[in-house]
Amino acid sequence: MIKIKSIFNQIITTIKESTKSLSLLIVVLASGCSENKAPAFQQSELSPGGTMTVKRLQKQSYIHPGAAVTGMQKMNFWTGFSFFRDPWIASPSSTKSRDGLGPLFNTRSCISCHDAGSRGPMAEVGESMPTSLVIKLGVRDKFDDSNHQTKKSKSIDKLTLVDPNYGDQIQPRGLLFRHPKLEHAPKGEALLKLSYQTIDGRYADGTLYQLSKPKYQLTKMAYGDLADHIGLTPRFAPNIFGAGLLDAIHVDDLLAQEDIDDNNRDGISAKYNRVLNIATGTLDIGRFSFKAKHPTLAQQIAAAFRNDIGITSRLFPTESCTEQQIICQQTARLGESSIDNNHHQTSFEISDKLFSLVVSFNQLLGVPPARNLTTEKVLKGREHFYQLGCQQCHTPSYRTDKNYPVEVLADQLIWPYSDLALHDMGEMLADNVKEDDANGQEWRTPPLWGIGLQKSTTKQQRFLHDGRANSISEAILWHGGEAEQVQKKFTQLTSNQRQELIKFLQAI
Ligand code: HEC
Ligand code: HEC
Repeated sequence: MIKIKSIFNQIITTIKESTKSLSLLIVVLASGCSENKAPAFQQSELSPGGTMTVKRLQKQSYIHPGAAVTGMQKMNFWTGFSFFRDPWIASPSSTKSRDGLGPLFNTRSCISCHDAGSRGPMAEVGESMPTSLVIKLGVRDKFDDSNHQTKKSKSIDKLTLVDPNYGDQIQPRGLLFRHPKLEHAPKGEALLKLSYQTIDGRYADGTLYQLSKPKYQLTKMAYGDLADHIGLTPRFAPNIFGAGLLDAIHVDDLLAQEDIDDNNRDGISAKYNRVLNIATGTLDIGRFSFKAKHPTLAQQIAAAFRNDIGITSRLFPTESCTEQQIICQQTARLGESSIDNNHHQTSFEISDKLFSLVVSFNQLLGVPPARNLTTEKVLKGREHFYQLGCQQCHTPSYRTDKNYPVEVLADQLIWPYSDLALHDMGEMLADNVKEDDANGQEWRTPPLWGIGLQKSTTKQQRFLHDGRANSISEAILWHGGEAEQVQKKFTQLTSNQRQELIKFLQAI
């Protein structure tokens, strides 16, 4: 479904040019379109991943191949899975295919952050060495350049994009590489101190609610302070199924939704992040991670291998040691085994072949089938979803590119409920850190398919970029910025209507 928004865009720009007296009508038209009536229910909504929907409902885990996956592909899927699940170990070891962990790292396996292909476990309150909650670092958005110049006489363009001491992510663990020249492991970078502040609120019907606003602080920092211009951006590991299908959406179908200057005046813009595609060297549309930093699933996975586990690959051939991290660098050098005469690395800690198996695994993960989507209550919730205007960012459906090279992912009618675009979500959700074209208040709309199964897969419910919301309603209540009007409308629903909406979100 291409949003009506982009069509409005064109009409409105044309009208705007011809006469201004129509602007009132335009506003009426545009806001009218946000209060959409729900479109007729389609049978395909029951299989949100098309033929890549998982055959039978599985409540314990999101890790199942899509129904269309057969034969050889299924073998690749399960082999890839073993490299997602099994812990990586220190090198040198006798298990060459699984060594190379560290020198600095967050955890030893993908699954320890993406439990059951999902999210969790959440960091504890107080001081801890978190696993799934990753503290990334980036340039602060509201960094005052002039102030900095007087203090250290450095201009903003001389400032590094990552922290000089810590790089772009806090890796709390360091590993000793067994070598006669090395006595110590590099020090883990820092611990996280997490606390929450309670915020009280009230629905229009008088019902009270509470939200927990997290506060993040680094402690036991092993390599000095962060640079002045660097800020923290916490990210709680997201669901990973369906990513192959999101990769297979044609870029034109995404760009048709772009509305950077909000030309249709509905109060909601949509901006795509433009990011470096490392494999091709081009600037592409970002689709993956919370600020859409990575244009392809493969690049997202290679970044995870390097930043989270310390495993180098063709796309990210160097370890994440900064110049200040001497032991990390020494360890990395001793670990490099295959350098040719031109100082080019010829092999990586994960070979191209194993890497592509992990990509296949992630790509072929199926989407859970919808649950109880056609009961009366849920269908009423479906009405509210469209009437409130949730679909303005949570784009319900797409048909994937019919020429996408992986056949089972091509030409599928899918229901992810996301435009994969960036939106200003207000100050309360802001990390105040930039990432490519994404500013400190912008986040990528996450897909909503399958979120209702989180409780049964991981025994917890955690939503939003840093997992601060403990329920779907909390997640909606946190919506601000461009989504503030929609959030307000949510708080004006009756308790019954709210329940209906939540039931719908649990069913898709
Ligand atoms: C230390 C915890 C951690 C580990 C280990 C980890 N991830 Fe992630 N993963 C995350 C976080 C956090 C994000 C969000 C990153 C961001 O916003 O920059 C993420 C994002 C992703 C995404 C993007 C999903 C989306 O919709 O944008 C995929 C796919 C993914 N990880 C797959 C993997 C694979 C495969 C591995 C193993 C190679 C892995 N991850 C290892 C924490 C982890
Ligand atoms: C202006 C765009 C926009 C609108 C309108 C919008 N959302 Fe969102 N939604 C987002 C973004 C962006 C996030 C991610 C925010 C974050 O992680 O901090 C999000 C996150 C969510 C999440 C959490 C998902 C997860 O896995 O963490 C849920 C649930 C959700 N939205 C439901 C809704 C519902 C229901 C509505 C309508 C009442 C709605 N949204 C309206 C943009 C929007």
